[in-house]
Amino acid sequence: MFAVITAACASAYAGILAFVGNQLQAAIETKESEFGWIVVGPIGIVLLASGRALSLYLMTICNNTGVQRALVDVQAAQFNALTDGDYQRLTAVAAGGFVSRFINDLNALRDAGLRFANNFTKSIFTIIGAFGYMLYLDWRLTLILLIVYPVAFGPVIALGNRIRKRAKAAQTQIGEVTSLLNEGFQSARIVKAYSLETYQRERAKLGFIERSRLFLKVLTDKAAVDPILEVTGGVAMAGILAFSAWQIGTGASTLGDLLGIIGAIGIATPELRALGTLNAVAQEGGAAADRMFDVLDDKTLICNTPGAVELAAVQGRISFKNVSFNYPDGSPALNNLSFEIEPGETVALVGPSGAGKSTVFNLILRLFDATSGEILIDGAPSKQVSLLSLRGAMALVSQDAALFDDTIKANIAFGRLEANIDEIMAAAIAANAHGFIMELKDGYDSQVGEGGRNLSGGQRQRVALARAIIRQAPILLLDEATSALDSENEAKVQVALREFTQDRTSLIVAHRLSTVRKADRILVIEDGQVVETGSHTELMAVNGVYKRLVELQLN
Ligand SMILES: Nc1ncnc2c1ncn2[C@@H]1O[C@H](COP(=O)(O)OP(=O)(O)O)[C@@H](O)[C@H]1O
Ligand SMILES: [Mg+2]
Repeated sequence: MFAVITAACASAYAGILAFVGNQLQAAIETKESEFGWIVVGPIGIVLLASGRALSLYLMTICNNTGVQRALVDVQAAQFNALTDGDYQRLTAVAAGGFVSRFINDLNALRDAGLRFANNFTKSIFTIIGAFGYMLYLDWRLTLILLIVYPVAFGPVIALGNRIRKRAKAAQTQIGEVTSLLNEGFQSARIVKAYSLETYQRERAKLGFIERSRLFLKVLTDKAAVDPILEVTGGVAMAGILAFSAWQIGTGASTLGDLLGIIGAIGIATPELRALGTLNAVAQEGGAAADRMFDVLDDKTLICNTPGAVELAAVQGRISFKNVSFNYPDGSPALNNLSFEIEPGETVALVGPSGAGKSTVFNLILRLFDATSGEILIDGAPSKQVSLLSLRGAMALVSQDAALFDDTIKANIAFGRLEANIDEIMAAAIAANAHGFIMELKDGYDSQVGEGGRNLSGGQRQRVALARAIIRQAPILLLDEATSALDSENEAKVQVALREFTQDRTSLIVAHRLSTVRKADRILVIEDGQVVETGSHTELMAVNGVYKRLVELQLN
């Protein structure tokens, strides 16, 4: 509505100009001016200008609020799609690529959104109004303009399409620069220790240069838009002056008409130019929107099947039946793997690195689906179990012990959000973490920092272990969960865990022999296959892979 008012004021403005012009002409001819009209004209102009200014201001405020709200929704939708979507997608792209979507792509979208909301309707209505008025004053002149302007808009639109493509390339590359920066700052310790500053500097510089090169391309295209429209405006103005001079000469037109038309052109030209640059910005925003819709439209592969069953009262039986798995990039990880784990059993997975142990955990958690074969939990194919109840039956501790930038208390409670402080402490005691937590200045309220950087590796792992313990899940998955602990602390954790795992199914990947030998059963995995299985004593009796691994560690 404000856009229409703004446009109407602008057209009326041209009307007043024409009116004043005719009064002027009359004054020139009669050498007399009607005082009243000479005052009304200028006052009218001031009033219209003020009216236009006010409605422009109100329109901009409304639009800004609307666009910001819409952007919040868009951001949230994109974040949700990424967070809820496949794990595979999150691991396929460097994290910086995703981060830049939320910062740089958002800027492009905001720019385009604001410009579009604030200018598009206003410009269109103003142009329609101005041309309507010109048509009323002199239809032949208007026809000339209606031919000149579209000719100029052809190249502007072609430029717009090129801008979209180039903007997309530039946005993708920002993602790479973001990753590079993240990595550089996160690995500051190694960079310093290995004096890799020069390597980092050069790598960053190359990224920056490429970034500016891609941006310059976009800017060069954008820079061409204004001059094209400028020349068009000049040509139009020249045509009008020539045509009007001739018309006034023959008496077919008045000075007032000429002023009115020049006024209308004066009003329409900036709006036409705004539309031209708006197209360029809109294409840039469009490129960002394309990238976003790629995410929103991407189908999630791992989700609940129709009629998915809820796992209830989980016993904890895990069966792999001829499971083969290749990672999306094609790397083979599991090769026709079969095994059965009884409820309550503690099984250790042993094998060289790259054997496929972590992959087994990824498949049990259904972070990926097997390429072929089947995984059953309590006899139910895991693909037909609801994801929430499947993962709810499991507690994972991984080597990296991912902690969130929050308090220790909160990090433990992530295992079971409704847990109270007594349960949190009990879990911390079981994980042999209570002691060091109490020594921290703020105890359980201490902030762990980004990724837990305020804690040592071993402390982080014990907090992660407490998080798994508090979950009280029937299936415990420990993937090198105590690798960062010293032997003494690990021994303490082992004692606590033995009690905890009594009536739970536990799968343990560990390199320390002391951890592995107490398992009920050991599965030796090599190249994605089970090559030996049995207890420590049984396996030591055969002269196989396990015995060799043990002897290597003892020497
Ligand atoms: N995200 C991934 N993308 C591609 N290949 C992977 C990925 N994770 C692991 N692999 C490959 O799968 C194989 C098994 O890896 P993994 O299960 O992590 O071994 P382990 O835990 O036994 O050391 C390795 O050859 C590894 O290179
Ligand atoms: Mg592993």
